[in-house]
Amino acid sequence: MSPSPANSLIRLDTRWVRAGELSTGGLSPADFEGLREASAKAHRELSRTERFGFFTLADPATPAWRESAKAAKAAWKKNFTDFVILGIGGSALGAKTLQQALAPETIPGAPKPGKVRVRILDNVDPGTLLPVLNALDPKKTLVNVVSKSGTTVETAAQFLLLAKKFRAALGKKWKDHFVLTTDPEKGELRRLAREENVLTLDVPPNVGGRYSVLSAVGLFPAAILGIDGKKILAGAASMKERCGAENLLQNPAYFFAAAHVLLAKKGGNVNVLFPYSEKLEFLARWFCQLWGESLGKKKGSERIGLTPTVALGTTDQHSQLQLYLDGPRDKVITTLSVESHGTDAAIPASLPGAKESGVNFLYGKKLGALFDAERDATKAALARNGVSLLDLRIPAISAHSLGELFFFFEVATAFAGLLLEIDPLDQPAVEEGKRLAAALLGKKDGEEDARALTPYRSPDPKFVL
Ligand code: PA5
Repeated sequence: MSPSPANSLIRLDTRWVRAGELSTGGLSPADFEGLREASAKAHRELSRTERFGFFTLADPATPAWRESAKAAKAAWKKNFTDFVILGIGGSALGAKTLQQALAPETIPGAPKPGKVRVRILDNVDPGTLLPVLNALDPKKTLVNVVSKSGTTVETAAQFLLLAKKFRAALGKKWKDHFVLTTDPEKGELRRLAREENVLTLDVPPNVGGRYSVLSAVGLFPAAILGIDGKKILAGAASMKERCGAENLLQNPAYFFAAAHVLLAKKGGNVNVLFPYSEKLEFLARWFCQLWGESLGKKKGSERIGLTPTVALGTTDQHSQLQLYLDGPRDKVITTLSVESHGTDAAIPASLPGAKESGVNFLYGKKLGALFDAERDATKAALARNGVSLLDLRIPAISAHSLGELFFFFEVATAFAGLLLEIDPLDQPAVEEGKRLAAALLGKKDGEEDARALTPYRSPDPKFVL
């Protein structure tokens, strides 16, 4: 459908959202035509890169990669064995995606452990956080604190706990074990970095948390994980080239956005990203945060939002698929297909009485062929039953394809927000949650909020069964 540059690897199969192809429903040419004006306006708006700063990050020559690679090189010289990232939401999910997809050997306890163990801590549950923090050896650990605002309380609390531990163990040298990633001017982290002279990497002011994976937020962890950030950025750049097309029928990210917006109007407002690759489960979680936080907004008295969710192939075929096939037609499903699995094995016929077995058709087949057959059968069943289905296909999981996918979803999300006439870059409800939690913890000027929350904090025995 779209003329794609030779080095862009993603293909978006759009057949099964089109009227006339699905057994029921689908989108007609008139549906897309109806978006023509809104789409042209959104395209113009997206070219304002001072607002949509993430566009400028999709370039292998950005200083973000140079600086991240340099900081990582300096860190390697110190022979750290453990690397810890503190952050939450957009400040953690990109790194988690990269680790799971491209550097699984760095996950503590991995079957083939690598030289460095990388933990990405995005919660403050005492039961899980404290055992990890307590086990760290400050001498051998590098900590990357990531917070665009520099004021997120979960990240601040994690940082304060570790800074105390490292100070006690290392004295003034504690700072050599920290890299802070934050806004170049504003926030507590920046102030602290200036006062204490801690190495700091910038998040551009016009790039918000969930759009920041191609900045130092994702690139410094990438460098530490041993991933070539230049390749991620080259992938993003090739997708950016394709996303320059104004015609939404030729632009895969615009098409993805438009199809979801149009199908939502017909009742399909639950959006499932269904990767057929365990290595892409976090990519799907990263997408959920991006899509949900960007598109769930109040517009006057109207409430707008497309609800993202994750299903994992083949695991969720034995869980969610029943609902997708026979339940309400409120889903739009995007399968994420990977052509090459990188490794494979034949399934042996090793059980006694193998010939009579009910699964003897499996013997000698490749595990990858089984996985692919499960995926293709699921897609066919969905399409045949009239469920709106898109398929995103990549040849293999690589730094390049991850870069393309990141940029594809960022453009699609921003474009969908503009079609819906909401601001895809803000998050007022998340900010409100942050403000109320701070008030409950005794933040100055938070007394009124704290008082207003009192009736909600403990159950009224009258209603408790
Ligand atoms: O996308 C967003 O803006 C949020 O999800 C943030 O990433 C998250 O709240 C963390 O914020 P910060 O990076 O300021 O600590």
